[in-house]
Amino acid sequence: MPTLIERARGRSILARLTVRERALERRMLRSLDRVEARLLACLQEADPPLLADVVGHLVTAGGKRMRPLLTLLGAEFGDPGAEGVMDAAVVTELIHTASLHHDDVMDEAVIRHGVSTVNASWGNLVAVRSGNWLLAKAAQLSAGLVPEAVPLQAEASERLVRGQIRELVGPARPEDRLPHYFEVVSDKSASLLSFSLRLGALQAGAPRGADETLEQYGEHLGVAFQISDDLLDITQPSWQLGKEQGKDLAVGVAGLPVLLVLEGGDAGDDELRELLTRPDGLHGAERMRALTLLQGSSAMGRAQAFMEERLGAARAALTALPPGAPRRALDMLCDVVSSRRQ
Ligand code: FPP
Ligand code: MG
Repeated sequence: MPTLIERARGRSILARLTVRERALERRMLRSLDRVEARLLACLQEADPPLLADVVGHLVTAGGKRMRPLLTLLGAEFGDPGAEGVMDAAVVTELIHTASLHHDDVMDEAVIRHGVSTVNASWGNLVAVRSGNWLLAKAAQLSAGLVPEAVPLQAEASERLVRGQIRELVGPARPEDRLPHYFEVVSDKSASLLSFSLRLGALQAGAPRGADETLEQYGEHLGVAFQISDDLLDITQPSWQLGKEQGKDLAVGVAGLPVLLVLEGGDAGDDELRELLTRPDGLHGAERMRALTLLQGSSAMGRAQAFMEERLGAARAALTALPPGAPRRALDMLCDVVSSRRQ
C-alpha cells in the first residue's frame, strides 16, 4: 500500500486544482480513493505473484493519477455515478503504466517515481512482458464498458506506439524538426490524456458532442503537458522529478527547448549547439554543462510560450462546454500544468 506521503504526492494536482470548488473536490477525492482501491485490486489479480509485484511496482511508488483524474472530470459532464466510470479511470492508469514500463526500457532508465525502474529491477524482458499484461488487463476492463471504449483504447495505444517510434526514427529533414516534434508529442502524450477525458464523458452518458470537445481540450493540454515535461527535465533536480534529470539529453531525445536552440541562430547558443549535435548523446560533465547552458538560453522562454499557446487553445476549447465547476476545474488544470514542478 502507498504511504500517506506517496498518496499526498499523488494528489498534488488535485490539491492545487480544486481549491475553490469544495464540493467537486470532495467528490473527486472519494472517487480517486475508489479508483485507487480498484486499481490495486486489479494489479493483485496478476498471477504468478512475481507478476503482481512487478505490475504493482510503479503504481505503488507514486504517480500523479492525472489520467484517472481526467476521466473523472470528463464524467462530470454526464452522470459521474454511472456504472463503469471507476473502471474507465482504472483503464487509463493501466495503459499509462504499461507505456512507462516500455518507455523505461527504451530509455534504459534506472529511476522512475523515485524508485528503481521495472527494467532495472527485473530486466527488460520482464518489463516488456508485464507492460503487455497491463495493456491486456486494460482491454479486459474496457470490454465491459461503453461500446466506444475498446476502439478508442486501441486507437490511443496505436498512437502511443506510433509517437514513440516516430521519435526514434526522427524527422525526414532537419527543417521538419518542429512539425515532427508536435506530431510526436501529440501521439505519445496527448493521445492518452484526450482518451481519458473522452472515455469518462462517454461512460457517464454525457450529451452528444461533449466527448469530442473534451478530446480537443485533451489534445492541447497533452501537448502543453509534454512541453512542461521537457522544461522540467532541464530545470528540476532528480530528487524533485523522481527520475534522472537531463535524461532526454543522455538518450539523444530532443525536447522542445533543445529543438529551438538547434533551430535558432542565437550566437549565444553556439557552444550549446555544438554540444547538442554530438552524435552519441551527452553524459557526465558535458551533460551538466549543456543543462546549465540550456537553463540560461532564450529557448526556454520560447518553449514556455509554445506551452502557453497550447494552454490557451485548451482553455478556448472549453467554452463549448456548459459552464460550471467541472469546466472551471479543467480551466484551472491549465494553470496547474503551466506552473508544474514535478
Ligand atoms: C514518456 O515520455 C512516455 C510516453 C509518454 C509514452 C511511451 C509510449 C511507448 C513506450 C509506446 C508503448 C505504449 C504502450 C501502450 C505499451 P518521456 O520519455 O518524454 O517522459 P519521461 O521523462 O517521463 O520518461
Ligand atoms: Mg522517457
